Amino acid sequence: MIHQELIQPGSIHVPFQEVRPKSYQVYMETFGCQMNEYDSELIRAMLKTQGFGFTDQSDEADVILLNTCAIRENAHNRVYGHLGKLKYHKQERGVVIGVLGCMAQNLKKELLDSQPFIDVLVGPDGYRQLPKLLTTAITTRAKGLSVDLSEYETYEHIIPERVSGVNAWIAVMRGCDNFCTFCVVPYTRGRERSRDPQGILLEAQGLAEQGFKQITLLGQNVNSFRFDHWDFAKLVTAVADIPGIERVRFMSPHPKDFPPALLDTVAQHPNVCSQIHLPLQSGSDRVLEAMGRGYTRKEYVQLVEAIRRRGDIPLTTDIICGFCGETDTEYSATSQLMEEVGYHAAYIFKYSERKNTIAARKFPDDVPEAIKTERVAQLIDRQKTISLKNNRRMIGQTVDVLVEGDAKKSSQQWVGHTESHVTVVWDKLCRPSQPGELLSVFIEDASASTLFGRPN
Ligand code: SAH
Ligand code: SF4
Ligand code: F3S
Repeated sequence: MIHQELIQPGSIHVPFQEVRPKSYQVYMETFGCQMNEYDSELIRAMLKTQGFGFTDQSDEADVILLNTCAIRENAHNRVYGHLGKLKYHKQERGVVIGVLGCMAQNLKKELLDSQPFIDVLVGPDGYRQLPKLLTTAITTRAKGLSVDLSEYETYEHIIPERVSGVNAWIAVMRGCDNFCTFCVVPYTRGRERSRDPQGILLEAQGLAEQGFKQITLLGQNVNSFRFDHWDFAKLVTAVADIPGIERVRFMSPHPKDFPPALLDTVAQHPNVCSQIHLPLQSGSDRVLEAMGRGYTRKEYVQLVEAIRRRGDIPLTTDIICGFCGETDTEYSATSQLMEEVGYHAAYIFKYSERKNTIAARKFPDDVPEAIKTERVAQLIDRQKTISLKNNRRMIGQTVDVLVEGDAKKSSQQWVGHTESHVTVVWDKLCRPSQPGELLSVFIEDASASTLFGRPN
């Protein structure tokens, strides 16, 4: 039996249906991008309000939730791998299994039918239904599905249950209307919609009062934020003006409509971080056109030049290798542009055909796997050399670092980031510190990914 929930337009004003389960324990894992991390925080808040508890032990949980990603085939495969392991919990203990997020939205009932041990399937606009669907699944074993996209849902008035730390995410808009031909996001997250800036600012003030030092404003295409007479530059300025917020970041802007006013905001506000993620995808005009990116190589370079005229603003990027029909010459154009821009970091992906996207319908996925792999490896190598060169330039300089917590490799070291988002690591013994502190660090050494230093 499928228990289907439809999202009504305007459902953001409908209060939760009153359900009072005993404190069922939920274990949740999150895959994918920061937007999914943020959605998991929203989900946690919504479930806790309805009496659910959370555990970090999957074998103690009554409910296991996977908040999933669909961006590339390997994202799907990771989730299938996890689902395989969860079967055990289902067979041994009758745990309720929920799959949420972009993969749930992408595959819908097909996923429910192919993986019969999934009880609940909810897409990114359906989370208000989750407490009720889970309660129904626990008490009656009925399956639940909520995969209707909404043009309105922004989860206004729900304060995410954040993992304590230094940084807090705020999604300022949801969805994407760009329909880059390779991308599944417009289908998994639906139409673009912005949140009311008054709600965003209240939330940001609350975060400053709770001691969060950094706010990262999120959106699939964050510079599309628009609400009445507010645009994104105005929103960033207003968040930066909140006392107590040491750093404001945003991601990801789209190169095709990067607003010049946003550059003024970055240049004029010392607490708006001077680092911009500017996804290139390809350096070839033919490929950019086929991808539907809405800019040419020349326009991208002009934007980079405009950014560079405003100061030393490090750039990072995303690149896809092996998109439909990509020739050696076209791939070389990307590689050469990477060198020319000198990115601080680049995320390099193999093209992965996504069902029903424009590219899947229009173009054959014809670059052989071995060539995709080779191109990705070459670009990663090339980027490492560029990053190392950029980082080595920092040796001998003193930088402001926001202390974030234990370094990944050793609890004897702290990790933090510079304002331009370069990772810095130093020994705890050098100086007593605590997360959230802004520290001046003298850089002594550098690798392609990390600066090593000593606090002054
Ligand atoms: N909205 C962001 C991108 C979000 S997805 C933007 O436009 O900047 C993050 C990255 O995943 C994209 O920039 C792209 O490089 C990569 N990506 C998206 N779809 C892909 C696909 N089908 N195959 C490989 N990489 C993909
Ligand atoms: Fe995907 Fe393009 Fe939207 Fe980014 S802008 S989420 S790549 S469709
Ligand atoms: Fe993010 Fe993956 Fe969805 S990248 S928007 S979780 S498809």
